[in-house]
Amino acid sequence: MAGSTFGTLFRITTWGESHGPALGVVVDGCPAGIPLSEEDINVYMERRRPNGGNMSTARNEADRIEILSGVFEGRTTGTPISMMLRNTDQRSHDYSNIKDAYRPGHADFGYDSKYGMRDYRGGGRSSARETAARVAGGAVAMKLLSMLGISVTAELSAVGDISASEMEKCEDLVSSVRNEQDSIGSTVTCKVTGMPAGIGQPVFDKLDADLAKAIFSIGAVKGLDIGAGHSAAVMRGSENNDPFRVRDGKVVTTTNNAGGILGGLSNGSDIDLTVYFKPTPSIARPQQTVNKDHEEIDLEIRGRHDPVIGRRAAVVVECMTALVLVDALLINMSSRADKIVDFYSCL
Ligand SMILES: Cc1cc2nc3c(=O)[nH]c(=O)nc-3n(C[C@H](O)[C@H](O)[C@H](O)COP(=O)(O)O)c2cc1C
Repeated sequence: MAGSTFGTLFRITTWGESHGPALGVVVDGCPAGIPLSEEDINVYMERRRPNGGNMSTARNEADRIEILSGVFEGRTTGTPISMMLRNTDQRSHDYSNIKDAYRPGHADFGYDSKYGMRDYRGGGRSSARETAARVAGGAVAMKLLSMLGISVTAELSAVGDISASEMEKCEDLVSSVRNEQDSIGSTVTCKVTGMPAGIGQPVFDKLDADLAKAIFSIGAVKGLDIGAGHSAAVMRGSENNDPFRVRDGKVVTTTNNAGGILGGLSNGSDIDLTVYFKPTPSIARPQQTVNKDHEEIDLEIRGRHDPVIGRRAAVVVECMTALVLVDALLINMSSRADKIVDFYSCL
């Protein structure tokens, strides 16, 4: 498989390259009757867009989604929803010096090794511009989640080792790495509230396994913690186990080291993700690399790049999480015979 499709029942396929005329997404398996407008999607597109600020690339595109199919009179019809985004601010000449060079930290060498050719303009298909298409698909999933009272919220939580609560210090750090023609890593946290218990699939399609696949499919992601995550490796069982209690007739846990998932199934607590991004690989500083002819060269990358990825990636984390949850919720509808009988006896 070519790897451009994600999901089982609620499925997205993204297409397009950074410097082609357009890119887009086809969402298939979306239930009919969800109120959906281009504006609903564009709210998410706006959050992924560079804001021209200190932490952003100067590439500036309107990023307005066009819905081409699957929506009629403001509601989804149950048929494939095709959405397109035109590339309007490409400057291909900025990339001419990387035509034959393998940029350190990028996919160039791998693409050439795999396909024997590549669209070198802005990284082509490997460019993070592709994430715009998946954000559009995820925004549709978010609409369905909100009808179910489930919210997914992600935000930049640290730049390097500085907490985003100290935004001024973060800005200063970004300015100094930018002045040094460098970039810096970042952290995004994501919280899901309102998730019912029992969602996910044993044993290979566990909810945490599906979330990990979704999150690691985002460029520059190098790590993921669910709940206590890696820090559980140095805890005692007595510390890490979340005690169950009953509150207002509902089973709850009094701590949430599990991050809302046990045995691959949601346990009704908030789902907490911490996502770690590497520093932006494209830096202005000259770097050592090799070219197609395997000659060692010095490379200066021109073009416009985020010095820190987490700010623009937060909405991508949110949307990939939403896609996994909607898919798991739809799959879960076939888990119990009594519920299936209830459903069909209502018809
Ligand atoms: C939202 C987002 C924006 C990104 N922006 C840039 C960028 O401006 N410049 C860059 O070199 N990499 C950027 N990246 C990261 C690269 O796309 C990624 O590191 C590269 O394709 C190599 O893939 P890998 O890091 O997953 O191995 C961005 C990633 C995301 C998720």
